[in-house]
Amino acid sequence: MVVVEALDGSGKLIVGGGFERAVEQDEGLHTILHLIHAGRRYLAVFPIATAIGDDESMATIEIEGLTKIYDNGFEAIHDLNLKVADEEFLVLVGPSGCGKSTALRMIAGLESITGGTLRIAGRVMNDVEPKDRDIAMVFQNYALYPHMTVYDNIGFALKLAKVPKKDIDTRVRRAAATLELEDLLDRKPGLLSGGQRQRVAMGRAIVRQPAAFLMDEPLSNLDAKLRVQMRAEIAALQRELAVTTVYVTHDQIEAMTMGDRVAVLKDGRLQQVDAPQNLYDFPANVFVGAFIGSPSMTLFEATVRLSGHSGSVTIGSNEIGLAQECLIKYPSLRDYDGEPVIVGIRPEDYQDAALVPEVPENRCISARVSVLEALGSEIMVHFRIDAPSVDSGDPDAIEEKIGLDTANAVGRFDPRSRVKLGDTVEVAISTENMHFSIPGPAWLSDSNAGRGRNVDVLKYRRRRDHRFDAPRRPVARS
Ligand SMILES: Nc1ncnc2c1ncn2[C@@H]1O[C@H](COP(=O)(O)OP(=O)(O)OP(=O)(O)O)[C@@H](O)[C@H]1O
Ligand SMILES: [Mg+2]
Repeated sequence: MVVVEALDGSGKLIVGGGFERAVEQDEGLHTILHLIHAGRRYLAVFPIATAIGDDESMATIEIEGLTKIYDNGFEAIHDLNLKVADEEFLVLVGPSGCGKSTALRMIAGLESITGGTLRIAGRVMNDVEPKDRDIAMVFQNYALYPHMTVYDNIGFALKLAKVPKKDIDTRVRRAAATLELEDLLDRKPGLLSGGQRQRVAMGRAIVRQPAAFLMDEPLSNLDAKLRVQMRAEIAALQRELAVTTVYVTHDQIEAMTMGDRVAVLKDGRLQQVDAPQNLYDFPANVFVGAFIGSPSMTLFEATVRLSGHSGSVTIGSNEIGLAQECLIKYPSLRDYDGEPVIVGIRPEDYQDAALVPEVPENRCISARVSVLEALGSEIMVHFRIDAPSVDSGDPDAIEEKIGLDTANAVGRFDPRSRVKLGDTVEVAISTENMHFSIPGPAWLSDSNAGRGRNVDVLKYRRRRDHRFDAPRRPVARS
């Protein structure tokens, strides 16, 4: 049943419930609803953006100014603002200790909310008991009851809730069919594989038919191959069930492959929330730039030089010509002539120059290959560049201390490349895809800084808001 406003045949406004929605028809910018009321048919026309409540089924999660201060005074979440749309799969990602579980547990009601507002399906939930929030949570340690069969494990919460036996049976069997566990219903968890146990844990959440799923690293106990399989299964299942989901992980590949949108958290602060490809192409700051993407983009301190319509960037002893696209994408680079900037280069934007036809000479650097990993479909080539590297602020990043003025770069070379370990190779750089940012205030006042220091991404971003343009995005198609 839908609650709407509609005009009847004579133009009289009918408000409220009592309609049955018959057909929903998308007409360009409008949605036309064919409504049935007391045996008569009405048409209602809505702008396409209007949310029409199937009143109970709109399970949005809205977080406004959410703060968590633990009893010991530690502020784990600062002013978090996030809106998860109905049926959306939102991934919360960030390094260990950034507050992902804290945020999720506050949504679940397992952790008290210090400040701000949490709404689920439009209802303020700050002080509502976890069991009354209509959510189901799947944890990393999804302890199954070892003495119960798969069937009883899946149905246990329903039994506690005194759901009639017949309904439990229907729901358990339906969940088991969805998860392909039908043949295992009589088994005990000890006789299941890791992936099967994971599916039983999912089954327990599904049978409750919640408004939202909250998942905290549900795959981290599985081996790498199973993780890849299960992440595809969970993503497909979520689409099939169309249940609003918040999924926590510290694995950015999981985040990129599973989420409709990804929210990146660092030190309890939201850095950016966007569709996976947008995070990759338009990171809001150096932290997101380095955190999303594997291997990470390399970050260097560099100097920009501009003359007329052309520009270059000096990275260590290399002066690299900038592609026109670069100056178009970052118009305010023009304000930085002769000034220090931070340059980010992704692995795929380095290539063996021997394989790039007609690459301009000033787009190449010479570098010695220090590590070579042939993966079949690509070759990961590690080389050093004599420019100071920049710390992205990711505490989980693999640190490699290689001298103050040398940065380690990784290129994703074509497998046809003939480079060998120890070779000095000409590396072509696709400068049109370079990312630019400006250094934090500490750097500007301290000429000796910038080596292994933490870039304060938030100060960074604030400065950037008024001093430095974000790259121009392509206009989204409507
Ligand atoms: N009960 C508590 N009292 C005080 N501090 C806490 C408490 N629980 C967690 N913290 C701190 O809050 C921060 C966020 O913890 P949280 O568990 O949310 O991180 P996380 O992002 O889930 O990390 P991980 O990826 O390791 O699971 C951490 O610094 C942690 O030490
Ligand atoms: Mg956690």
